[in-house]
Amino acid sequence: MDTYRPIIWNEHKLFLLDQRLLPHEEKFVEITNLQDTARAITDMVVRGAPCIGFTAIFGMALWVKDQKLLDVSLCRKACDEMIAARPTAVNLSFEVNRCFEIMKNHLLENGQPSELYKKLISFGERQISESHQKNTIMAEIGLNELLKTVGDRKWKLMTHCNTGFLACGSLGTALGVISHAHKKGRVEHVIADETRPYMQGTRLTAFELSKEKIPYSIAVEGAASYLLSQGKVDAIFVGADRIARNGDTANKVGTSTLAIVANHYKIPFYVVAPVSSFDTSIPDGSHIEIEMRSMAEITELKGVKLAPDQAHAINPSFDVTDHKLITGIICEKGFINPANKDELFKVVNL
Ligand code: MRU
Repeated sequence: MDTYRPIIWNEHKLFLLDQRLLPHEEKFVEITNLQDTARAITDMVVRGAPCIGFTAIFGMALWVKDQKLLDVSLCRKACDEMIAARPTAVNLSFEVNRCFEIMKNHLLENGQPSELYKKLISFGERQISESHQKNTIMAEIGLNELLKTVGDRKWKLMTHCNTGFLACGSLGTALGVISHAHKKGRVEHVIADETRPYMQGTRLTAFELSKEKIPYSIAVEGAASYLLSQGKVDAIFVGADRIARNGDTANKVGTSTLAIVANHYKIPFYVVAPVSSFDTSIPDGSHIEIEMRSMAEITELKGVKLAPDQAHAINPSFDVTDHKLITGIICEKGFINPANKDELFKVVNL
């Protein structure tokens, strides 16, 4: 299961598992250039903050492969083209800007494009394999936190959107905690939010939970208040697309609603995300650009019209959860209590 990979680099080509077709079709899309990589990110062939970042690294390598002559300004232009593919997940610019640093240093050393291409490929492969170790650390921190806050028994957990191997390359962040807890025999049941309108919960999280044989139910987001009031959930784990300096967190739309409901019923609410999801350049969540996606994602389902012809829809793809509603942020460097203003800086050390 951990060897199941949504991003494969083979024979100078990038293969992405087409997540738009899951769970009923498992098909890979072959990609050979920057433009098609960026389009695959925009169209959500590949999605989930960490996987968007990893994919972009290989896209930059494909771009370098096609260049006869390289200079810093051409590299910057190509990097910016990639970063424009999706606005909210900071992992995209985090990884692409690291590619730019590699490019710049390589050019300063008068290196050949073919060598730079190899450097970027090995950089991408290293990020995916290191993410497995990082996710394992986060999963262990999450497990210990549950032992402390919920106690020594089996747990009823809830999650929103998709944060497993499909979003992260391997194991997962929030779903990594759940999967790790399951392996330790600690999970009684998981509730996966369907995650309207793109249905990452119904299509992707349910697919991953099924593969791991973790007992689960899909619930509509609107059921959260009822389910939490009935004691059906001991703790909630979600991922992040961008975490501001004060701990405000952008994640899939509906996350903030869930955090407000969790706060009302006093259910612990955790964000699990690698350091690549932190944006310490912004003071708070109001500075995060929220991606607006097409009306058709709401008014239609798989090309079948649901709403009246000409119906208008508004489709913000993310929202921002106030740090005051977050019990803890778990990253590979440790546990952050967002109520403590300076802790994020101390732990993340960016
Ligand atoms: O629009 P998506 O499917 O890319 O959004 C994904 C999410 O919001 C995830 O919860 C987030 O990226 C964290 S992934 C570990």
